[in-house]
Amino acid sequence: MIGLNRYIPDEIVEQIRASSDIVEIVSDYVRLKKQGRNYVGLCPFHNEKTPSFMVSQEKQIYRCFGCGEGGNIFSFLIKRGNLSFPEAVAVLAERSGISIPEEDDPERDARAKKTEQAYKLNELVKDFYQYVLKNHDIARGARSYLEQRGVTPETADKFQIGFAPPSWDSQINFLKKKGYSVEILEQMGFILAKTKGAPGYYDRFRNRIMFPVWNIQGKVVGFGGRVLDDSLPKYLNSPETPLFNKGHLLYGINKALESIRRLDQVIIVEGYMDVISCHQAGIENVVASLGTAFTPEQGKLLLRYTRQVVFAYDADTAGVNAAMRGWQVLDDIGCRVRVVSIPEGKDPDDYIRNHGPEQFLLLVNERALSLSDYKTDRALEKYDIYTLEGKFKIASEVIPSIINLSNEIEKDEAIMKLAKRLHLSPDAIRAEVEKNARKSRNSWGKRHKITGLRDNKTNFAQPAKSQKEEKDARSKAEETLLIMILEDKSVFSKIKGEVGVHFCSNQEYLNIINLLAEMIENGLDYQPAALFDRMPDEASAGVLSELMAKETPADNKVKIIQDCLKTIREDEIRKKREDLLRQMEEADRNRDQNLRNQLLLEYSKLI
Ligand code: GTP
Ligand code: MN
Repeated sequence: MIGLNRYIPDEIVEQIRASSDIVEIVSDYVRLKKQGRNYVGLCPFHNEKTPSFMVSQEKQIYRCFGCGEGGNIFSFLIKRGNLSFPEAVAVLAERSGISIPEEDDPERDARAKKTEQAYKLNELVKDFYQYVLKNHDIARGARSYLEQRGVTPETADKFQIGFAPPSWDSQINFLKKKGYSVEILEQMGFILAKTKGAPGYYDRFRNRIMFPVWNIQGKVVGFGGRVLDDSLPKYLNSPETPLFNKGHLLYGINKALESIRRLDQVIIVEGYMDVISCHQAGIENVVASLGTAFTPEQGKLLLRYTRQVVFAYDADTAGVNAAMRGWQVLDDIGCRVRVVSIPEGKDPDDYIRNHGPEQFLLLVNERALSLSDYKTDRALEKYDIYTLEGKFKIASEVIPSIINLSNEIEKDEAIMKLAKRLHLSPDAIRAEVEKNARKSRNSWGKRHKITGLRDNKTNFAQPAKSQKEEKDARSKAEETLLIMILEDKSVFSKIKGEVGVHFCSNQEYLNIINLLAEMIENGLDYQPAALFDRMPDEASAGVLSELMAKETPADNKVKIIQDCLKTIREDEIRKKREDLLRQMEEADRNRDQNLRNQLLLEYSKLI
């Protein structure tokens, strides 16, 4: 397998693309059926019962009409197979027997070698701990500890659990013998420099049960180590290293992916032991957030696989308030976030052992609260509901999640509920919700772009009704023209002279037309499917796949183009008129008669 940062020349990428077939690749993952000119099947990116996933052999693209995922053969392998771009290219190269030439770049090679060595080191240390746990006398206590906590040997194997010996130098000696320098051992967090006595190093992890932490590809990137008794700290984690970035990792995600996708739901817990216990009980769509507050990056890791998120947290956890900010991020980007506090101050591991997996699933599926309900509960504990200030604070904590509810009935219900609990009128709450919604609309576009998600929340950002229809005609015209250029490059030159190159008014369309313009004007030849590799963000790629999946009628092309151009020109004129009217009002306010007359003249020319 090729290194992560490997640069592959464009010609080779094109050659590999040309000799691969998207239908063949997708068929490894999805049962496809021929339907007309295309193939259809059940979408591998979201859970569905009727097929809305389409693959076009002709265009070498795929598109899901349900969830909006779309792209080319590379993006399919990147998303579905969790590969990087060079890895996806390498996989296809191998299948079609094309070799990727080696090129010299000592710096890159050194970097790749270092990363490779770091992965190998983590793997080796994991094997070492595992060997000690299974075979060594000093690990007897650790083995009986795991047994007493109900972890079976099979589970310990599956999670590659190990044991770090109590001595100060067992790891450093072992690893030095294997040829690793103290520099890399220190950098990867296995040893620490002595601060007293003769200079030297000692092992960081001693006398602890060791849990390897994997990245999404299942490679070991660090460790968490637990003491066997009540001493502190209970857990010791690897420090932040080039491979181990806690805010970007979710413990167990590599083992949970299949189940998350299948069930279209993820359960997020707090601890290593909770994940392990859940798996052992047959609940596999579970990950943990490594003891830090949940981060937006962790959220984005999950978005590819599901939008149904349940946090199963111990209600007394000190970190819940910080974690809630992370939950809000997920809520903001369109996930359905629910929260369940495990009763009796227990964690999922305790709860499953006392009540069994069925009861736990019942909690998760029946008793989890929406984020707004959960926040209301927490806020009610924190503030004094009998003062106006208290009511105000509670309302302002809860309202953001009410705004995010996409369903009007749910929204209304949440408003009524909050009103009742605060002893206020629903109208007062509704007015606050409206006010805050208006404020957040301005920032909505930004968030929308970050995630590339498009869903029914778009109506949130739409302008007032009167303008809406014209706006629709305009974007419909832009859409049609883009589709036609994608089908036939020569259409571009016809349009360019009429409305210019940048005739699109939304950001995704602009990204697409800018790229098309760049390629066409530089006389670059390209396969339409290759455009996906150059899209600046997921949102634009999603829109591109939507456009490519559509077709324009075969005849009357000239007339269609003319109609679209007319719509765009008219819309431009309308905008100019509006702008002039605004300027005239301004001139009136300033009693600037000259300017006003000048503007009026311009205005009359536009009618
Ligand atoms: P058990 O007590 O063995 O059941 O562990 P747990 O997995 O239930 O842990 P707990 O709920 O106490 O804490 C949740 C997570 O926070 C742990 O899995 C760790 O990732 C992290 N954590 C807990 N205690 C510490 C600590 O002392 N130091 C650090 N760095 N992390 C901790
Ligand atoms: Mn626990």
